[in-house]
Amino acid sequence: MKILIAYHSDTGNTEKVAIAMKEGLDEEGQDVTLQHTKDCDPSSLKSYDLILLGTRIVGGSPGKSAQNLIRKVTELPPKIAFFYTHGQNRPYPKVFKRLEKKLEQNNTKVIGTFECIGANTEWPVEQQVQMAPPEKREQARKYIESIKGRPNEEDLQKAKDFAKSLLK
Ligand SMILES: Cc1cc2nc3c(=O)[nH]c(=O)nc-3n(C[C@H](O)[C@H](O)[C@H](O)COP(=O)(O)O)c2cc1C
Repeated sequence: MKILIAYHSDTGNTEKVAIAMKEGLDEEGQDVTLQHTKDCDPSSLKSYDLILLGTRIVGGSPGKSAQNLIRKVTELPPKIAFFYTHGQNRPYPKVFKRLEKKLEQNNTKVIGTFECIGANTEWPVEQQVQMAPPEKREQARKYIESIKGRPNEEDLQKAKDFAKSLLK
């Protein structure tokens, strides 16, 4: 299968996940292209059999170049899967909602979604702690410490397994 893994990543977390997914698909002998969404030509997406579209979460939304791609693309392949990394301890099930209509129009099936925690390495820990209300700062500090280094090896193995599972 001709597969595109397109991802928006600024500090490398989502990119690590995308690379792990490519490794998994390479092991299965697939023809895989890995591209940052800022380098994706929206008109090229249709030429793949399957797209894995990924992003970091910024203010509850996809990264800018992923948003641009979602806005500009008109034609999609028969199958798509989503993935995203996020710092908060909750999923964002509606993050690709803006693609919904286009999925319907193209008869594109969503065959899976993968999400995992990605530590925020862009802001100093203290700044992140201070964003929580005073009574929740200790809890916030513990949480931030607990997700240091993620995505970790276990997350990346899960990403790889997820990508392979899409072929079944
Ligand atoms: C400016 C900014 C905004 C963020 N907004 C959110 C958010 O709304 N929800 C969330 O769970 N994580 C948020 N994060 C954390 C990132 O989604 C997370 O660290 C992600 O793994 C970064 O991916 P990247 O390394 O691929 O860029 C934010 C981080 C930054 C720096």
